[in-house]
Amino acid sequence: MKVTLENIDLKYGDTYAVKGVNAEIEDGHSLVLLGKSGCGKTSTMRCIAGLETPVRGRITIGDQVVFDSEKNINIPSHKRNVGMVFQSYAVWPHRTIFENVAFPLQMKNLGKKEITDRVDEALHLVGLDGFQKRGASLLSGGQMQRVALARSLVMRPSVLLLDEPLSNLDARLRDRLRIELRALQQKLNLTCVYVTHDQGEALALADRIALMQNGKLAQVGSPGDIYENPASASIADFLGVTNIFPVLKNGHPGTYKMAEHRLELTTVDYTLDGDAIKACIRPEDVIVSGQRPDADSNNWAGEVSVASYQGSNVRYLIELDGGPAIEALVSRRDGPPAGKGNRVWVTASPSDIQILPAEVA
Ligand SMILES: Nc1ncnc2c1ncn2[C@@H]1O[C@H](COP(=O)(O)OP(=O)(O)O)[C@@H](O)[C@H]1O
Ligand SMILES: [Mg+2]
Repeated sequence: MKVTLENIDLKYGDTYAVKGVNAEIEDGHSLVLLGKSGCGKTSTMRCIAGLETPVRGRITIGDQVVFDSEKNINIPSHKRNVGMVFQSYAVWPHRTIFENVAFPLQMKNLGKKEITDRVDEALHLVGLDGFQKRGASLLSGGQMQRVALARSLVMRPSVLLLDEPLSNLDARLRDRLRIELRALQQKLNLTCVYVTHDQGEALALADRIALMQNGKLAQVGSPGDIYENPASASIADFLGVTNIFPVLKNGHPGTYKMAEHRLELTTVDYTLDGDAIKACIRPEDVIVSGQRPDADSNNWAGEVSVASYQGSNVRYLIELDGGPAIEALVSRRDGPPAGKGNRVWVTASPSDIQILPAEVA
């Protein structure tokens, strides 16, 4: 079901944890709330669930207004038909998988047959067929999280809220489960709000990403929008753009100069001015070569200070002559890697240099 948040403010004591949040999640879509720890993601999610009471705003799930500060509407959590999965699995270790998953249905006094069928169905969905009788304490972390997910799905929630559900798992399992979760969300046409501080997870799971900073939504867009066109240098930084340099307008149209160095940057976009602007260059857009390239701009010499082999790529840190260190991510296919101490040439296409405000206005 469609979920709408309008002007949500949430306070703890005198401090705002969430400020003026507006968001719309289309029926069957997933919205990922992405941001640093403490930016207000969990608080926003808890407002949707009815576990926190905002001081202002309105929340709608489907056709039902579940919260409206002006009209004094505040539907209790258990009547919102919202499923939740948290980082801590909250699975009872001394009960069987069946008992864990069946619990919410038993609370609703459903018939035995219906409970068995729905538990079987939910376990099937999360890939735990045949685990009904197993004791929960015997499960791995990944399996526990599947049980927690099954326990939410068994209620056929209108909205599924997931708060960093994969954070306790090791990296490989996390990668696999994130693909499974996305497949399941799409197959069941689930409306999801997914909270994470991990940009890779956000890009993989979202129809839309809402990037949170200091309790506010700083940018909302598709994963592609956010990745390709971050609204500020601090968002770019959060998304893994490691080359961020303060710049100033140079006087010659089409170029900026680095504020702390002498290097000049030629860019396509030449509109921004002021003293709080930064040039952002993704490491994969930095081209490294052994000879001076033909490019007549953004042509810098330097010395490799770190070369880190990463399987399909090599990650370099290159100290530019008279400039900053720049990071480059080079495909192994592009020839034999340079080593520490090698002299190299570095270029970047003017279209790959984004000039952004330091922060969202
Ligand atoms: N129960 C609480 N009481 C007081 N402050 C809280 C409470 N829960 C969260 N906060 C504060 O609200 C802000 C947002 O927290 P939270 O929503 O948990 O962030 P996130 O999930 O993005 O890490 C933080 O500054 C946090 O310290
Ligand atoms: Mg949190």
